Amino acid sequence: MPDAKKPGFSRDSISNTLIVAVGVSLVCSVLVSSAAIVLRPLQEANQNEFRQRIVLEVAGLYDPAVPVDEQFGNIETRLVDLETGEYVDGMDPQSFDPEAAANDPQLGVTIPKERDIAGISRRAVYAPVYIVKEDGAPRQYILPVRGKGLWSTLYGYLSVEPDGNTVSGLRFYEHAETPGLGDQIEKEPWLAQWPGKKLYDEQGNPQIEVIRGSVQSGPNEIHQVDGLSGATLTANGVTYLIRYWIGSHGFGPYLAQVSSEANDNG
Ligand SMILES: Cc1cc2nc3c(=O)[nH]c(=O)nc-3n(C[C@H](O)[C@H](O)[C@H](O)COP(=O)(O)O)c2cc1C
Repeated sequence: MPDAKKPGFSRDSISNTLIVAVGVSLVCSVLVSSAAIVLRPLQEANQNEFRQRIVLEVAGLYDPAVPVDEQFGNIETRLVDLETGEYVDGMDPQSFDPEAAANDPQLGVTIPKERDIAGISRRAVYAPVYIVKEDGAPRQYILPVRGKGLWSTLYGYLSVEPDGNTVSGLRFYEHAETPGLGDQIEKEPWLAQWPGKKLYDEQGNPQIEVIRGSVQSGPNEIHQVDGLSGATLTANGVTYLIRYWIGSHGFGPYLAQVSSEANDNG
């Protein structure tokens, strides 16, 4: 009969307990890290597909029966230098991450306080734009926008017609505003008001506004969208973030450029 208990060996000793605990932690951490590394490309692909779907939705082109990447093939993605409004070549617009770039010393800039009406502190020097074409001619320019709501940063896409002034659509795809209050920004009855609204006045100043209450007929109605009842602070966030991104520190120079192109092309 083998001796089950070796003299001097105790399974419950402190050193054995520690060895087992450290061993189990090491195995678990290797498993978790490996899973994170293995799953990262899949997560990125899913995130990419999700954003492409939202771009298609804001363009009014999304068809659930057709794979997203196939539909997205008809949309041209370019990078824009926000200061000049010119396209940037030599960088891959698909893999450019504007939020990571915002915090990069070379690729990001601090937004001067008095101009930071979106409350985002920094932005990248470049931004991706998505151009929807029909028979080779641009029909919509889809711009990523973001800014503070009440509780969270609101992330969305604004689609603009080739005149650089008329809204074609708006969608928010990420935020943490309150369900039933601030989350009305992602609901159709409210979003349906946006197409046709004008971003700028005759002098080119951003005028678009989510007002308090309902839009009344008058000279400003073309720039106005109904307020969100019980969620005026989120609604104000939407006004300011859009005004920032269409302003001279955002896509203003780019939108001026596309509208003059549209004028040149008749
Ligand atoms: C629990 C809680 C959650 C709220 N969430 C939001 C929100 O997501 N967005 C918002 O603008 N206001 C929210 N509010 C209300 C704001 O505090 C504020 O009263 C409201 O924005 C004012 O809008 P009103 O003038 O249309 O009522 C919340 C209030 C409470 C108590």
